[in-house]
Amino acid sequence: MNEPTADLNHPQLPRRPLGPPLSEPSCWHDIRVTVNGAPVCAQVESRLLLVDFLRHRLGLTGTHVGCEQGSCGACTILVDGVGVRSCLTLAVQADGSDVRTVESLAESGELNRLQRAFHEEHGMQCGFCTPGILMSMTALEESSEVIDDDAIMEHLGGNLCRCTGYVNIRNAARRACLRERSRPVDEGADRDA
Ligand code: FES
Ligand code: FES
Repeated sequence: MNEPTADLNHPQLPRRPLGPPLSEPSCWHDIRVTVNGAPVCAQVESRLLLVDFLRHRLGLTGTHVGCEQGSCGACTILVDGVGVRSCLTLAVQADGSDVRTVESLAESGELNRLQRAFHEEHGMQCGFCTPGILMSMTALEESSEVIDDDAIMEHLGGNLCRCTGYVNIRNAARRACLRERSRPVDEGADRDA
């Protein structure tokens, strides 16, 4: 995805959400996180979800909200390099962490290799699931795990897509991840599936 990157230090970004507070001051916490490479200090309510913090407080709407119960993977982001469901994570739990969202993937305004593979293989239809899938695949790429078809399928298994039937998604993931590890790519393997 090539969505615009938010200016996390923009003076108009509220340290607290607009509108009246929903809880007592004692339920607020100061957190410091790094979001897509930028340091962010904020006050958050105890119950504020990390996905809502990213979307509504920081304007990083590339992370999508689907099921809100940990099933679909649309909200997947990286926290300290590990893929997590941001709909099941509290913002306060991210205190001190390095958070990366889909907005971090583009390089100098250009699609990165993984994004290009999804573009070239048409690994999406409506695109709602795509940010979460890209982040799951990024977690796999950056891990020390051996990347093969089984690893790709295991990581894709946490992300639901209601449109594509997964064939092109799998082809895109194989194209990007296997190419990265200098493995032969059987380009046609899934097209006949
Ligand atoms: S919105 Fe988080 S897993 Fe579905
Ligand atoms: S492309 Fe529509 S949900 Fe996956």
